[in-house]
Amino acid sequence: MRILIIGGGGREHVIAARIKSSKHNPSIYAVMAKKNPGIAALCEDFLLEKETDVEKVIGYAKFRNIDIAFVGPEAPLAVGISDALWEAGISVIGPKKICAIIEFDKAWARNFMKKYGIEGCPTYKIFTEEGPAHAFIEKLGDVAVKPSGLTGGKGVKVMGDQLPDIEAAKVYTSLLLEKGSVVIEERLIGEEFTLQALVDGKSLVFFPAVQDHKRVYEGDLGPNTGGMGSYTDVKEILPFMLSEDLEKAKQIMKSTVKALYEETKTEYMGILYGQFILTASGPKVVEFNARFGDPEAMNTIPIIETDFVEIMLAVVKGTLGKLPVKFSRQATVCKYAVPAGYPDNPEKDSEVIVEDLGEALVYYASVYEKGGKIYTTGSRAVAIVGCAETIDAAEKIAQNALENIRGNLFFRRDIGTAALIQKRIDHMKKLRS
Ligand code: GLY
Repeated sequence: MRILIIGGGGREHVIAARIKSSKHNPSIYAVMAKKNPGIAALCEDFLLEKETDVEKVIGYAKFRNIDIAFVGPEAPLAVGISDALWEAGISVIGPKKICAIIEFDKAWARNFMKKYGIEGCPTYKIFTEEGPAHAFIEKLGDVAVKPSGLTGGKGVKVMGDQLPDIEAAKVYTSLLLEKGSVVIEERLIGEEFTLQALVDGKSLVFFPAVQDHKRVYEGDLGPNTGGMGSYTDVKEILPFMLSEDLEKAKQIMKSTVKALYEETKTEYMGILYGQFILTASGPKVVEFNARFGDPEAMNTIPIIETDFVEIMLAVVKGTLGKLPVKFSRQATVCKYAVPAGYPDNPEKDSEVIVEDLGEALVYYASVYEKGGKIYTTGSRAVAIVGCAETIDAAEKIAQNALENIRGNLFFRRDIGTAALIQKRIDHMKKLRS
């Protein structure tokens, strides 16, 4: 079997590693913008090209007689890479554009939730003009402001966080309106969690819930990033959640897949990512994405016990409902090492040396290889994952390994520690009371 991976980050490295471990002994090929040394080492061959260049990707997939493709990031989905691959006779993990719109148009996603009565949708409105937008901000008083398009997780700003007051929310809204429409919605207060599911058009297989950490510095301070690290527990739920919270989130995701079919008459095949906030009145939807999370993929893919290629085949054949997908009962902690100055002024082309990582798993992200050495590109560089019987033990594995990575890098020591998890539990207890 010949499998093509589209994308060159940490998420695509963990996907490639699991495909490589399949008993089907597949040959792996990749299209990535820069040479990710982890992915390159697992491939028969790769093309260094923009993942959004549909013509070049399809040309390469045909040239390599690819049977099945896995689209990692959102940008190629947004330009219709899956549609083009299916048209070329290649099966794809990753929804067609008509369904992937749920990620790349946040205004569409909110109107869709409203139209189909999908639970967990906050009060919101969409604006193209400043006057009505400012009036709505005044009316709600406490808001989140989102550009409608893709921003790599860095475009949303929330009052009380990045926006100190109503005036700041108005200024940011006006700035965004220069480029396109803006979603303004009530600010949700609670603890965030991610729920990812494999979808074959009808059935959903859920991964354990994950909590990501978007802020760059310890104590959840500083600007937002794509995610500095994340953890899962041995159970499906996280320590601050109740089973009923997870059931509610699953129900929302199932209703979403059903409604997407009603709306588009197209089966959703790939990953549905639900970003939730657990509030005092249950889970609310922050957004949906059409791919695995990064870093959430690094927590959840390594603990899959079922053959990954069989899972991929079940997704594209619509037989996921008949495949028992199993996970090992391990907690995981993933932490990213990022270049000095990240995210605002990151050091690029700086050498990274990865050695002696003990039991930890390592996934290369935004780095490139040249002359046998590895260098930063300016974004998240290397993801380190610990898997163990408790979150605490997994955190220690990841942290010990991080201390051995050399380079002008930094990371968050607090992710996955007992102290930070207790803070999440206490926060949720306070909200629920
Ligand atoms: N970790 C956030 C995301 O992948 O969207």
